Amino acid sequence: MSLANQKIAVYVTGGIAVYKVAGLVRQLIKAGATVQVAMTQSATEFVTPLTFATLTKRPVLTDLFAVDQPDQVAHIHLADWSDLAIVAPATANVLAKLANGLADDFVTTALLATTAPKLIVPAMNEHMWLNPATQRNVQQLVTDGLTVMQPATGFLAEGYNGQGRFPEEAQIVAQATRLLTPQLLKDQVVVVTAGGTTEPLDPVRFIGNRSSGKMGYAVAQVAAMLGAKVILISTRPELAVPAQLERVIYVQTAAELQGAVQAVYDQANIVVMAAAVADFKPVQYAPQKIKKQVNQTDFQLNLTKNPDILAALGQQKTTQFLVGFAAETNDLLSNAQVKLAAKQVDLLVANDVSQTDRGFNADDNEVTLLWADGTTEKLPLTTKVTIATQILTRIAQVQK
Ligand SMILES: Cc1cc2nc3c(=O)[nH]c(=O)nc-3n(C[C@H](O)[C@H](O)[C@H](O)COP(=O)(O)O)c2cc1C
Repeated sequence: MSLANQKIAVYVTGGIAVYKVAGLVRQLIKAGATVQVAMTQSATEFVTPLTFATLTKRPVLTDLFAVDQPDQVAHIHLADWSDLAIVAPATANVLAKLANGLADDFVTTALLATTAPKLIVPAMNEHMWLNPATQRNVQQLVTDGLTVMQPATGFLAEGYNGQGRFPEEAQIVAQATRLLTPQLLKDQVVVVTAGGTTEPLDPVRFIGNRSSGKMGYAVAQVAAMLGAKVILISTRPELAVPAQLERVIYVQTAAELQGAVQAVYDQANIVVMAAAVADFKPVQYAPQKIKKQVNQTDFQLNLTKNPDILAALGQQKTTQFLVGFAAETNDLLSNAQVKLAAKQVDLLVANDVSQTDRGFNADDNEVTLLWADGTTEKLPLTTKVTIATQILTRIAQVQK
């Protein structure tokens, strides 16, 4: 999931946030895209074209009738060349022009001529944004099939708080990536569990495990990128929530996780159980901190079995595609085969968690896919996002 080899036209219009677009252009290039910038005359009042020309290593297009341009129809060439058009920042003025099909400068003429998906990133004074005329124009653009981001709320250049700020670069890059990604899971409801559960012993202690939640978050991020409505059930509130999720539900214990999954199971098309659920929990919870006694050398902890959430989902399964994860430190494949059959899952993702550069807590993973029909496939060591992409792409294919 990247912008590698994608051709992106960035149309810069005349708002105070123009300087932030330099950072956005750098991120797009870093993600692998080729970027061509065009600016309105107003935009060049804020930042000179030299900044963008230097970042992109391409001359910036500004003048519809430039006589010194070798290409007399540069606006049409840009329109046809680009895989994606981003208007950032989009002024109230350019929103009005686009909503009405005006084409009176390089930027608006190229935008009217392009058939590429269009991502509009408005930024302006709050009252300009909330003005009924602007809102009417935004509505028209959405109706016309353009993607219009909501400006962020925060401290505005005017010196007060309000809605109108240029959104975070990462959010814009995520939206751009989504618009360039085939929507293989469009409107599918994907439920993902992530992180390790914790079972409290007393108000300060718990039994837990080393699962970081990164694999589940990668699955949630990629599923959303592929157009799914993602419900993420997580034990890790400290992790940044991926863009475009439908809902995030935070839980701690296995019982809470089970309750959360059961509540949404009926509406799910795909369920990915990436969380590491504790097999056992303390028989008793001590409401006050357990004290050690004088001269005490041992401590007996009585545990009782937690419900087998995955097996229960396997039994209740109707049309859901159920994915389990098997984290093993030894005999990976034979243990995974047993789990695959016992839990009635459609796909089991087996990972070796005995090494520190993959699996639990690492950014990378190496897994073996075990399908219900008996076929297996090894996915070599790579990032968790790439693993998630490979898994979800294969599920989308078998679901067709
Ligand atoms: C200092 C200054 C800051 C401005 N900031 C914004 C802004 O953030 N958003 C906006 O929509 N217009 C802003 N404007 C108004 C636009 O520059 C003006 O509407 C202009 O005609 C837009 O032209 P363009 O859409 O062709 O780029 C600002 C104007 C000035 C003088």
